[in-house]
Amino acid sequence: MSKAPAANIESHLKENRVFKPAKEFSAKAHIKSLAHYKKLWTESVKQPEKFWKKQAEAELIWQKPFTKVLQWKEPFAKWFTGGKLNVSANCLDRWLDSATANKAALIWEGEPATDGKPGEERVLTYKQLHREVCRFANVLKRNGISKGDRVIIYLPMVPEAAIAMLACTRIGAVHSVVFGGFSAQSVADRIQDCGAKMVITSDGGYRRGAVVPLKKNVDEALKLHDAAGQSLTQTIEKVIVLRRCANEVHMAEHRDVWWHRELDYVSDVCPAEKLDSEAPLFILYTSGSTGKPKGILHSTAGYLLGTKLTSKYVFDLRAEDVYWCTADVGWVTGHSYIVYGPLANGATALMYEGAPNWPEPDRFWRIIQKYGVTILYTAPTAIRAFMKWGDEWPKKHDLSSLRLLGSVGEPINPEAWMWYHNVIGGGRCPIVDTWWQTETGSIMITPLPGATPTKPGTATLPFFGILPEVVDDQGKPVPKNTGGKLVVRQPWPSMLRGIWGDNERYKQTYWTEVKGSYFTGDGCRQDKDGYFWIVGRIDDVLNVAGHRIGTAEVESALVSHPSVAEAAVVGRPDELKGQALVCFVTLKTGVKATPELKNELRNHIGKEIGPVAKPDEVRFAEALPKTRSGKIMRRLLKQIASGMEIKGDTTTLEDISVIAKLASGEE
Ligand code: WT7
Repeated sequence: MSKAPAANIESHLKENRVFKPAKEFSAKAHIKSLAHYKKLWTESVKQPEKFWKKQAEAELIWQKPFTKVLQWKEPFAKWFTGGKLNVSANCLDRWLDSATANKAALIWEGEPATDGKPGEERVLTYKQLHREVCRFANVLKRNGISKGDRVIIYLPMVPEAAIAMLACTRIGAVHSVVFGGFSAQSVADRIQDCGAKMVITSDGGYRRGAVVPLKKNVDEALKLHDAAGQSLTQTIEKVIVLRRCANEVHMAEHRDVWWHRELDYVSDVCPAEKLDSEAPLFILYTSGSTGKPKGILHSTAGYLLGTKLTSKYVFDLRAEDVYWCTADVGWVTGHSYIVYGPLANGATALMYEGAPNWPEPDRFWRIIQKYGVTILYTAPTAIRAFMKWGDEWPKKHDLSSLRLLGSVGEPINPEAWMWYHNVIGGGRCPIVDTWWQTETGSIMITPLPGATPTKPGTATLPFFGILPEVVDDQGKPVPKNTGGKLVVRQPWPSMLRGIWGDNERYKQTYWTEVKGSYFTGDGCRQDKDGYFWIVGRIDDVLNVAGHRIGTAEVESALVSHPSVAEAAVVGRPDELKGQALVCFVTLKTGVKATPELKNELRNHIGKEIGPVAKPDEVRFAEALPKTRSGKIMRRLLKQIASGMEIKGDTTTLEDISVIAKLASGEE
């Protein structure tokens, strides 16, 4: 792998607003002051093993205590060895003897029907969820699944997705959730890569009033071959099908079985398997910048501890909270912060099946009012969409139950931060901007809402036990306010254990760029207060006439213009300057795309950042190519900007038609 030049990324955006936690919030919070946070954090990174030992003993239920905290042979970590435990027992069984047993574990809201009727609603208490998980775990066993087997979960956002995940953990099977919007090809690729024995799917899933034919996609996936005529999916023995939409499906004899029928054959007793701390828990595929998707592997104890602790402290969870993370279970945020983290804390988590603008753009705000949601965790891409749709939609609803807001997935531009703060949070809710990755398993850099003063656009300071640093190309720490590569200096319990089946790629991708450290791939700077400002992926750092410019900053400047809804900035090779800046811009509803506006936007960037960042080209677009998790696929935009053919993995793309439109220059 080539070394990505990173040091001295120039940081041009200045943001001086500071928001201190309100006294009333801090008074009730787990961590009540910055001084307290700093003391605990310093202790935790000075003696990390002592810190993690104490947390693992206090927070997790062990079937057998561990004997060693950390075995570290770079780049391979083993945490809490000798110990045995079970994730589903830590999320469910542990609450059965307490008042939490009859509390809502999951509140599920279905997509509203096309005739305008509200969506279905289901509530599962801890006791009920435990029972369903035990029954379904028995279904898995009955269908030949045992410890270590890989199971693909390809379901819509229904409670059964969580039930299937937890049932796998109960018997030690390794799940790999594939997002319901992905194609047959993506399903087949993932089955092949992890050698899965089973697919759990449904007849269909609802999306904006239409039925997505999931089972049909699985049927297609199971027929796919590689170039040499070899089946991609011959490891699959069984397909379990949940009835959701009652659309017609084909059931292959001996291979396909109905979820509801299988339940008739099983009991609701299923003891939780005693699993090693390091037993593989799940594989989740994320797209690499090139080549095939990477199967990120997480293991049992460390992952559970990371998600439990961060859920508790970052969301400052309390028994009475109604907590809503709007992510899909098909990506890591859904794993860590809908299912495992909240349930391990005995919290009430809300799950919503549908789209934010179906049937109307106030869907989220309706749900918040209906259930009295107290904590909302969503992504900047969603926030910018809400801004585009207009303030009238949230203003129609009573959002006063909210007490805390969260953001994840990409840098949140100050403009969106302020809107989130004022329009959704009513100026009273702290915002936790949480930086982490599929690979890190749980939140790494984040404010603690009762302790950390926030500034729009920064994820602020590291979580307990986490030691991030910004370094130059030689791996040396850079001075404050200087850009560099973001690395993590010490292993942490919820870190990935590898890339499934590819130790070499694991080493190359994460552990060779900066010697002795985990390389995040992100560019970053620390300000005078030590706050971490992510300036974008290192691959996205541009060099324009000798100036290193982070794309995130230019995007942020664009979005601060009143006409702009969303922006993506990429580089195009340029003889004169090295790289030229090309901006793709979507406009707010009702704004006309004119040449004058293009000029105005160029000047606006010049004013906000400096003449060096003035783009060479501004292109208006109807939509930007995004992954299903809402990340703009800059790699594709780069190819479009330089008039190249689109190459590489596009399986994670949300809507492939966006690419055709952009490439044809349609505006
Ligand atoms: C990448 C990881 C974290 C789970 C969801 C995405 C970017 C994520 C932030 C944030 C700035 C962020 C980084 C990171 N990112 N959160 N709060 N501020 N950047 O997981 O798909 O693995 O992506 O998302 O570039 O490396 P992922």
